[in-house]
Amino acid sequence: MLEVGVSDIAIYIPPFYLAHEDLAKARGVAPEKFHQGLGSYRMAVLPNWEDAVTMAANVAVQLLEKTGTDPDEIQQLVVSTESGVDHSKPVASFVQGLLKIGTRCRVYEIKHACYGGTAGLVHSIDWISRHPQNPRKALIIMTDIARYAFGSPGEPTQGAGAVALLVDRNPRLFSMDTGLNGIFSKDVFDFWRPTGHRVPIVDGKYSIQCYLEALEGATSHFRANSGLEKGKLLEAIDYFIYHMPFGNMAKKAHRHLIDLEFPGLDPGEKERIFAESFNRKVEPSLLGAREVGNIYTGSVYMGLISLLETERERVEGKKVAIFSYGSGCGAEFFVVQFKKGIGDIIQRLRFKEQLARRKRITFETYVQTYSKTWAEIMFHPGEVEGFKDEFTRFVFVGFKDHKRQYL
Ligand code: CAA
Repeated sequence: MLEVGVSDIAIYIPPFYLAHEDLAKARGVAPEKFHQGLGSYRMAVLPNWEDAVTMAANVAVQLLEKTGTDPDEIQQLVVSTESGVDHSKPVASFVQGLLKIGTRCRVYEIKHACYGGTAGLVHSIDWISRHPQNPRKALIIMTDIARYAFGSPGEPTQGAGAVALLVDRNPRLFSMDTGLNGIFSKDVFDFWRPTGHRVPIVDGKYSIQCYLEALEGATSHFRANSGLEKGKLLEAIDYFIYHMPFGNMAKKAHRHLIDLEFPGLDPGEKERIFAESFNRKVEPSLLGAREVGNIYTGSVYMGLISLLETERERVEGKKVAIFSYGSGCGAEFFVVQFKKGIGDIIQRLRFKEQLARRKRITFETYVQTYSKTWAEIMFHPGEVEGFKDEFTRFVFVGFKDHKRQYL
């Protein structure tokens, strides 16, 4: 059978961050609330000369270069985002132009809150699988700026970043049998951003309930598809990666999963199983949530990169369960197995290097950056080109004849 899946992965994160201790001080909150209560330590802040397009192009160019992929080999380019820049023209078309991807490529944008990237991934795998005689490659990009209202409960869970996946036959990182995936979707208002709003409207506590209900529905569907009995998931899976709007959401999710797996068990024993399995199977995926914050569509895949960066070659041959959740809501639970011989992929992730390259900004600079009016953001003189470096290869410089300009 033709194996199709992910051959390589890349991440791009902005060059600035705000420390949660600085946010806590400015908001008059104990820093422990953000550190211990949410599991958040630093959040990425996107400068005004970047947007969803530059982050998408910056991550994609990294992925194409490190895999030696010619832009013309990409026959499907999907960008998933909830931070789009135009009602009609997709972010993917801007990326196609910046990366010089050829015309024989299907190019589109996809939206379903934080779940959209997984939808793009699954559809691309199915599309390549349907054409066994004709080798095809797809590039899936997830790019987002997670913004919330100043002073709102969501503010400490902000972040920004992009992840790119190269989908291919005979994949180097992992393959996926999409027929086993557990799916859950439901029409809810837990988190949404009406057209024209810069920040979302959030029913925070309810959104956590919706997330946990989706986890329950998606795992139950996965069990039905895979024939895995209740109570067997923990022994079958080596690592769990949950969608992480903040690190402690993974704790809530994993605790819920243990409840679902062992309903009649004594609470003390459940707690013991939770603590032991969380440390070993979940904790290694938390680096990005702690250091970058929520990056919406890319969040669960930043968890995957965090796992690879933390566990390194120890992941080879191991099975990973991934739970992707998007408000509104849509979710998918699936299991993949890492291939052997992926040391070079891990070496070239450069995630920790990007974390180390960042500059800490003050609370005042953060407020100033995110307070700019649309008009102020819409023009940047040419000198922003000076902010380019080996990771930031494209910057936004303003509008000409209502057309966004990038250098
Ligand atoms: N020391 C240690 N911990 C403290 C503390 C202190 N001094 N003060 C409070 N805490 C703890 C609380 O006990 C609580 O912990 P538990 O959740 O374990 O009980 C935690 O800090 C959060 O405090 P609150 O309960 O007071 O909650 P909050 O008002 O700060 O709101 C939130 C939390 C609802 C997650 C809010 O940040 C929010 O609305 N976030 C955005 C929405 C979101 O991320 N939803 C998640 C599911 S939806 C999704 O996943 C899609 C998506 O990407 C948005």
